Amino acid sequence: MTITIELEPLSEALGMAVRGIDLREQVDDRTQDELRDLFAKHCVLCFPDQKISAEDQRRFAAMFGRVDGAYRSKSSGDLKKSATRGVMLVSNIRKDGKPIGSLPDGEMMFHSDGAHRQYPYRATTLFGIKIPSIGGNTLFANLQAAYDALSPEMQDRIKDLETQTVYDYAAQDRSTIGEDPTLPRARHSLVKTHQVTGRKSLYLSRLMTEKILDMDDAESETLLAELFDHAEKSEFVYAHKWIPGDLVIWDNRSTNHARTDFSDEEQRLLRRYTVSDPDAPLGN
Ligand code: OGA
Ligand code: MN
Repeated sequence: MTITIELEPLSEALGMAVRGIDLREQVDDRTQDELRDLFAKHCVLCFPDQKISAEDQRRFAAMFGRVDGAYRSKSSGDLKKSATRGVMLVSNIRKDGKPIGSLPDGEMMFHSDGAHRQYPYRATTLFGIKIPSIGGNTLFANLQAAYDALSPEMQDRIKDLETQTVYDYAAQDRSTIGEDPTLPRARHSLVKTHQVTGRKSLYLSRLMTEKILDMDDAESETLLAELFDHAEKSEFVYAHKWIPGDLVIWDNRSTNHARTDFSDEEQRLLRRYTVSDPDAPLGN
């Protein structure tokens, strides 16, 4: 049986809604190829009205690369159990006073998942389970469009620059980012070329790019501030307002994402699997 999928752009900036596939079922090879093409081209895909289990989400994620945590199944022998262990929740819900999720609550600045690693996650998948009535939107910014819109002079100025990235869980704004020298850090090219499409993107973010290497600190901060403002311009950004049952996958090589604030009186719960390059070393 072949499936006919229906496509509808999510915004002018990026993204495609994909309807007509029930992701509880195995996806045929031809449709898988089509989804991988759409993903590379549109950077963010949303599959509305899904009723998937954690294992279904893991199988979906595996179409796009190596699912993080899945390798643990080897030692446990029980795929279902280990798949559940690999799941990360994104939530403000507390159980016995402890957060069940692994990310901060409320607003989050623009970032790219795993940018603090030498081998960042290729993609992230999030499945919406409980969504507040107001706020808690995920904003996606198209870093390829942002790069293309730079002046030729700026493209030339930044073409060989490298950055130092950091993940500081506790930082609420840029003024305190990276104060702790023991935080995880990596080194990246400021301009990245996409492995599949060959398009260039502006690989930087307000939450995770600490500085430009081999540049005076003040000059680095001035240039970064200009580029952050540019990359966050509304013309490059799509605001995803979640509906329970939305399964979203985004490309961390070509997009940044952020989260708008929401009330702590309301519950928000999403299930997350990340995808890595198959040749990235495990644990990096
Ligand atoms: C993430 C993330 C944003 C959100 O899961 O990496 O940044 O809207 N989530 O919860
Ligand atoms: Mn994130």
